[in-house]
Amino acid sequence: GAVPVICIDGPTASGKGTVASLVAQRLGYAFLDSGALYRATALAAARAGLVMEPGNEAAIAVIARQLPIRFDGERIWLADEDVSEALRLEATGADASRISAMATVRTALLDLQHGFARLPGLVADGRDMGTVIFPTAPLKVFMTASAACRAERRHKQLISKGIDAKIDSLRADLEARDARDQSRAVAPLKPAQDALLLDNSTLTIEETVAQVLAWWQERQ
Ligand code: C5P
Repeated sequence: GAVPVICIDGPTASGKGTVASLVAQRLGYAFLDSGALYRATALAAARAGLVMEPGNEAAIAVIARQLPIRFDGERIWLADEDVSEALRLEATGADASRISAMATVRTALLDLQHGFARLPGLVADGRDMGTVIFPTAPLKVFMTASAACRAERRHKQLISKGIDAKIDSLRADLEARDARDQSRAVAPLKPAQDALLLDNSTLTIEETVAQVLAWWQERQ
């Protein structure tokens, strides 16, 4: 369609969420945090007493299709409950990663994701924004950072929230999640053919945002 979309895909803790939301802010574009949709589906499924196992795929897909999610500035609501904190829990992320390998769950979330595209534009953050959800997007960025770097950032983030964590086990968790996201049969994590790679291991958030905005300028 006529709505310009900037896709930012990449592995866990690559900083893509922070960068995507800043780029959206600077451009006055809408922002899609697609990971939150998988996290919210997993949370709603857990609340319904479902374990994230293949036998429950159909039931989890029904939950995904009817997800009563609402984005309100920094807060995310599921029906009348503010689930912003619950969605960020590591356990929710691990559950999300499990259900995200289910084909019917991914299909159930298609319309919801497409609905975020509106003028003057959209910045979409995820794993398959450029490969599956918005394949004709004029700018696709595949954002990475070394595993050591991502584990260190996640560690700092947790410590600043007063949560104790070990770098080594965080890194092992990140690598396990990446491996699962990259090896699944449906919509695996991989750069689109026409994606620009952006390794931000040695860049600040501001430098990373500036690079994405510069690429976007080149396309205008
Ligand atoms: O990005 P975030 O960590 O919030 O995503 C949680 C999980 O949801 C990821 O580990 C991934 O398995 C899944 N996901 C996905 N496709 C997306 C966004 C997230 O499979 N577009």
